Parts: sequence; structure tokens; C-alpha cells
Amino acid sequence: MKKKPIFVTQPSLPPIEDFLPYIESIWDSKILTNHGPFHEQFTCALKDYLGVKEVVLFSNATLALITALQSLNLTGEVITTPYTFIATSHSVIWNKLTPVFVDIDPITLNICPKKIEEAITDNTSAILAVHCYGNPCDVVEIDNIAKKYNLKVIYDAAHAFAVEHKGRSLLDFGDLSVVSFHATKVFNTFEGGAIICHDELTKNKLTKLTNFGFVNELEIDGLGLNAKMPEINAALGIVQLNYIETAIDKRKGIDELYRQGLGGVQGIQCLSNSKQSKKNYAYFPIFVQPSYLLDRDELYEKLKNNGFFVRRYFYPLTSSFPVYEGYASSSKSNLPVAHERALAVICLPIYPDLSFENVRHVIQLIAEV
Ligand SMILES: Cc1ncc(COP(=O)(O)O)c(C=O)c1O
Repeated sequence: MKKKPIFVTQPSLPPIEDFLPYIESIWDSKILTNHGPFHEQFTCALKDYLGVKEVVLFSNATLALITALQSLNLTGEVITTPYTFIATSHSVIWNKLTPVFVDIDPITLNICPKKIEEAITDNTSAILAVHCYGNPCDVVEIDNIAKKYNLKVIYDAAHAFAVEHKGRSLLDFGDLSVVSFHATKVFNTFEGGAIICHDELTKNKLTKLTNFGFVNELEIDGLGLNAKMPEINAALGIVQLNYIETAIDKRKGIDELYRQGLGGVQGIQCLSNSKQSKKNYAYFPIFVQPSYLLDRDELYEKLKNNGFFVRRYFYPLTSSFPVYEGYASSSKSNLPVAHERALAVICLPIYPDLSFENVRHVIQLIAEV
């Protein structure tokens, strides 16, 4: 019998019996969207779970990123990382701002604070950093730079649900943080996202922007989108919260197994264990070094031919796509570390229901070379 393909991730879902009463309730109430009761309940549950001041739900994190930048009235240039998913830099362009790419730290793969400072000009208005793979940026240094130059800080925290750093939610850092609840993420609502902010005024402003800018039936305040999270997604989020800790524990077991199995393999480098207080084990990237007998793409093909559909996140770099090629900061010479890492990376399968047998098979395929 042919083995079922294993993908880099698989969405976690709660038992359907848990979810059915919520669907029945939606069918009874006929409230499908427009900030209904499950929207409110999920918002409160998330604030409690994350221990943050304010949460604004979105239909996805891309719209949340676009809105986050818009709400801060930014101008000119936004310093960002090329080692990310394309939505990060797209959100800059959607706001008619100029992305300025700077290189990443070779250990954390997050934007390098020293390079940020070197790239600041009179036109810089913000730093858009990414907690890549859920590992924290150097939030203290970024905060110092932002204060020194009077810049806003937005964290693309799409990967960072449930992560804690310095004893509190990683989503609590920066002016605004954006998290994704997409199907492929550690915590999903099918599609979804949120902005975490620090005060009610900002929350109200962002909430209006999710709903066309409506203040009331007669007034519009700002160029809002339709970015509201529907009731069905909010309801799923409420149920998913009951299972998130178990899901993270299972991911931890897989992370440990990979580290044990791959630690001694010549030419295979795992991402260093970072120092945050609580991790979410969202991804398991490895870096294929020249001393390994296959190159990165040969190993990628080998795993694929054996039924493991791994991914090369984040290759190509966002700065290498045609939309971004024209910017001076996209040049390869400006981003040597990001280029080197993007050419070496493979993200291995990791998700709560992935069997240890499959993890061992992946390890064996990599180690036997
Ligand atoms: C770093 C990063 N930013 C933004 C997004 C966009 O999230 P969404 O799919 O919820 O729009 C993703 C999604 O994969 C991501 O990985």
C-alpha cells in the first residue's frame, strides 16, 4: 500500500463534538459576522490566555498587518527583514511605503539590530520585524533604537502564538504585534489573525478599520477594510484554546526527537535553542551545510521522493521576488546572511499528530546519506 504523503504541517482540529454546539448556536441566532457574541467571547478568552491588554480580531494576519501599519500613520521608509513570508513586505507596499531590507542575525535569523541602526535615514518611520519561526527578536535592542530615533515598532508575530519572553507574552512587545491563526499555524481558526495593542483607544481605532471605518450608521472615520473575523472562526478559536497546551507539548516531543537524531549528523545544523521563557515549536528548520554529502535541493528531493513534502521556508527571500527587486536594499550584497541561510534551509514536518515513527523515518533519511 502506498504511504500517505506527509506535509510540513497539518492543521490541528478539536473533536468535532466540541464544535457542533457552536455551529447550532450560530444557526439559531443567525448572527454570522459583524462582531457577534462569539467574536466578543473569543476576544476576552484570548486576552486572558495571552495575558495582554487588548486584542483586535481579524479575518487573517495579512489584513491585520496592512491595518497595523495604516493605523500608525507612517510615512516614507519602513525597515524590515527579507527572511519572512511575502505578506510582511506586501503590507508595506499596500500602505504606499518603501520597504528597506536589512540583513538578519545568523543565529536567530531575525532582523539584526545593528543593521537596523545603520539603515535609518530621515525618512524612516518604523521597524517591521518578524519573530521568525516563533523565536523572539532582540526586542530590548529594537526598543532602544526605536526610542532613540522616534520610530514605531510593529512585530509580525504570525509564528509566535503562545510564545513567552522575559516572563510575558511575546505579543506584548512593540507598538503593535500581529499574529496569524491560519490553518498552518500552531493555533488556527481555519483563517484568522489578530493585532495585540496596549490601550482601548488604539483597540477602538483598529476595530473601526476592520469594518470599513464605520463609527456608526452615518459616520465613517478612516479608510477601513472589511477584515472582520466571522462568528464561525471565532467559535472555533474558543474551542481550540482548550487544546493548545497539549498541542504545544506534542510539538515539543517532536522537536526533542529531531534534535537528538540530527544533532550528530555531519553537515546538518539545527536552529539553536533560543532563550525565550516559553516556546511553541512552530517549525523545525535545518540548514544543509557544504560538508553534507547532498546539497539542499538534493536533500529536499530525496525527502519528497520518500513521501515527506518538506518546505524551504524562507526561500526565495521576499527581496528576490520581482515586486521587490528594484529596491536598492534588495541587492544581494546588502543581505549576505539572509541569502546564505535561504539557500541552506529546509523546514521538516512538525505538527501534533505527526507520529514518532515518521519523525524517525525523516531522521534516518537525512542521517543515512
Ligand atoms: C511571517 C508571516 N507573516 C504573515 C503571514 C500571513 O498570515 P495570514 O495567512 O494569516 O494572512 C504569514 C502566514 O503564513 C507569515 O508566515
